[in-house]
Amino acid sequence: MSGASAPVSAAADDGIGELRRAASQRLAAAGYASAALEADLLLSLATGLERGQLFAWPERAVDAAQRQRFEQLLTRRVAGEPIAYLLQQRAFWSLELRVSRATLIPRPETETLVELALRALPADQALRVADLGTGSGAIAAALAHERPRWSLIGLERDPDALAIAALNAARLQLDNLSLMRGHWSSALGRASLDALIANPPYVRADDPHLGQGDLRFEPRAALVAGADGLLAIRALIADAPRCLKPGGLLAIEHGWDQGADVRALMQQQGLEAIETWRDLAGQERVTQAILSPRLNARPHENLDQRPLD
Ligand SMILES: C[S@@+](CC[C@H](N)C(=O)[O-])C[C@H]1O[C@@H](n2cnc3c(N)ncnc32)[C@H](O)[C@@H]1O
Repeated sequence: MSGASAPVSAAADDGIGELRRAASQRLAAAGYASAALEADLLLSLATGLERGQLFAWPERAVDAAQRQRFEQLLTRRVAGEPIAYLLQQRAFWSLELRVSRATLIPRPETETLVELALRALPADQALRVADLGTGSGAIAAALAHERPRWSLIGLERDPDALAIAALNAARLQLDNLSLMRGHWSSALGRASLDALIANPPYVRADDPHLGQGDLRFEPRAALVAGADGLLAIRALIADAPRCLKPGGLLAIEHGWDQGADVRALMQQQGLEAIETWRDLAGQERVTQAILSPRLNARPHENLDQRPLD
């Protein structure tokens, strides 16, 4: 991606049409495929105008403060900052979510996890379901929205991410979603849940992708899970028998090449009906298992023992 850093346009009195054109060119030169759309989204944010108003009135003037705000946003985007962080929002499932630099930007592949939970669990029962490492609250909010009879718990270690999840729950009026700060399921005690759902950090500490694209700006604690990327997944699987009801569901998102490891860890823990789902790109993405109705809960054995901040 080139660091094209020319100003939006040379003439201070250019109207909206000219600003859109120049910004779109600059974003395209920086390598963004959706340059025109992104230019409009940032101009809307800077001016407070709807996108339709930008089309409708190309000669409309932009005041100095709006122009400066637009220039700052464009500069940050050209430097690689994710558009979701600049707009402070991202669509996930059918919801528009607030995000911040404290939260992971919810990914389309995580919708596989939502879909799986909706298919695997009865819609009409009052189930208790926890989303561990909820971040912006994406998974918990999607499930709470789709299943008003379920009670969702969104658990998160980072207080700033938790504040964003709380904001989303309030904006979306999700009365069946409660939020809790804690270190994986140790905060839940013997919770007797119907399901544990998680998109935990699963990137290897030395993965070169961490230095590329949006990942450069996302919280490291939301991405990285030790040398093999399995640190958080091990902790979640080890804790599942203590937190789940017999017959309860565990579903975990993981890296495309971690399916076999996750299945083996679940098997070692005595979980049953282990199955891996692929995402829309055909990659192994989510593995689910059931706590055997015959299995007694094991003592708490949390493998990821870092203290809370
Ligand atoms: C991959 S992000 C997923 C965020 C969100 N669930 C989503 O899918 O967009 C993992 C989340 O787990 C949180 N996390 C990391 N370590 C944790 C821990 N020990 N206990 C609880 N949450 C943790 C991170 O702060 C981050 O929000």
